Amino acid sequence: MTDSLTVRDNRTGQEYEVPITDGAIKAADLGQIKAGEDAPGLAVYDPGFVNTASCRSSVTYIDGEKGILEYRGYPIEQLAEKSSFLEVAYLLIHGSLPTKAEYEAWAHEITYHTFVHENVRTFMQGFRYDAHPMGMLMASVGALSTFYPDARNISDAENRHIQMVRMIAKMPTLGAWSFRHAQGKPYVYPDNDLGYTANFLSMLFKMSESKFGADERLVKALDVLFILHADHEQNCSTNAVRSVGSSQVDPYSAVAAGIGALYGPLHGGANEAVLRMLKRIGTKENIPDFIKGVKEGNERLMGFGHRVYKNYDPRATIIKKACDDVFEVTGVNPLLEIAQELEKIALEDEYFVKRKLYPNVDFYSGLIYEAFQFPPEMFTVLFAIGRTPGWLAQWSELVQDKEQKIARPKQIYTGDRTLDFVPASERWS
Ligand SMILES: CC(C)(COP(=O)(O)OP(=O)(O)OC[C@H]1O[C@@H](n2cnc3c(N)ncnc32)[C@H](O)[C@@H]1OP(=O)(O)O)[C@@H](O)C(=O)NCCC(=O)NCCS
Repeated sequence: MTDSLTVRDNRTGQEYEVPITDGAIKAADLGQIKAGEDAPGLAVYDPGFVNTASCRSSVTYIDGEKGILEYRGYPIEQLAEKSSFLEVAYLLIHGSLPTKAEYEAWAHEITYHTFVHENVRTFMQGFRYDAHPMGMLMASVGALSTFYPDARNISDAENRHIQMVRMIAKMPTLGAWSFRHAQGKPYVYPDNDLGYTANFLSMLFKMSESKFGADERLVKALDVLFILHADHEQNCSTNAVRSVGSSQVDPYSAVAAGIGALYGPLHGGANEAVLRMLKRIGTKENIPDFIKGVKEGNERLMGFGHRVYKNYDPRATIIKKACDDVFEVTGVNPLLEIAQELEKIALEDEYFVKRKLYPNVDFYSGLIYEAFQFPPEMFTVLFAIGRTPGWLAQWSELVQDKEQKIARPKQIYTGDRTLDFVPASERWS
């Protein structure tokens, strides 16, 4: 068997041989295929990049048919059960698990970079009283580029490291302050005695007490949710980080672009839609009618189906377990019963089985976030905090990849050509 593709251009009758490497052909190799001497080379039309690999990456592996998700080769189930978010962040960025000394140094660095310049606090306070926390997060992460102008020196490994540490460390501070802002509550400074996730909860919920101690089960559940969201290979926001980063801009600007992409309802907003749907259904008795409407094409069962997973999303299984732990502390969210019944009915229904529609990560995560008393606008902020190490691992891989170029897709031009301009004074007379 030869690892190549023979292409016959029926316009000219000419045949070409294109090498296949790692199951892919180089789109540039198709450029040699031309209808005539001066004709443009053949291009690939792929809106949404549904079948175009934009990079080689060793960060995250997904097999959607089998429901497999691995970070740097480790199954997500094992990481969620036995690791911590900070260790997973180290793994994603460095490519291997830390030794004890490496972990301690990493945790120390992250902990001691949680504070932000006071001017960041003052400009955040300038947002409107009802500013969306995701807009505040995006703007403040982008603004960090002005506080660390050396961040543009992206070819220096040590420099890249310190910016990545800063970003992972400061993201919970900025996220928590965006949350407090909309509530009109004073911003809480980081508490360096606390671990990463416990400190985040303290900045979110602390009031007059001298120390905020969140229930350990809640800390663990939120830490697991961060792990589950830490990376998902070339999704929309990661692609945005890579695309903007390919211009060699500083990482704060590139990650701010990723946050912008995540802000959109098709990416980070599905768990909010799940909650709205469950509230609308209201009682278990209304489920059959709702399912009937879905099957008739009136609406979608939110939190079901995935572009990549055609099997149970492995993250959904872990979140279901985390639900139990959280509800043990907060009391059961009454919507859980409806969600469980919906899932049971859908998994047995021919319509969903035939289309390989299974619960995705968003089906249960909204219920947990609501139990924490997060308003829906905060859901994507939590997602962004979890995704930050993944964005940075991908960004770091990009800037060191000699094959990468500035992202600059082709287009198929469909507009007019060579029109003669008539000045306004003549056109309007
Ligand atoms: C995630 C999603 C956008 C993936 O879409 P996709 O890969 O482009 O799949 P398609 O839209 O082509 O759907 C394939 C078929 O399944 C159906 N389908 C997909 N998701 C469905 C859902 N949640 N409820 C009901 N039907 C669904 C489509 O109607 C289509 O049916 P058809 O072949 O009869 O036309 C889609 O499953 C969806 O909208 N899910 C709900 C939103 C959600 O939970 N998003 C979070 C993703 S993490």
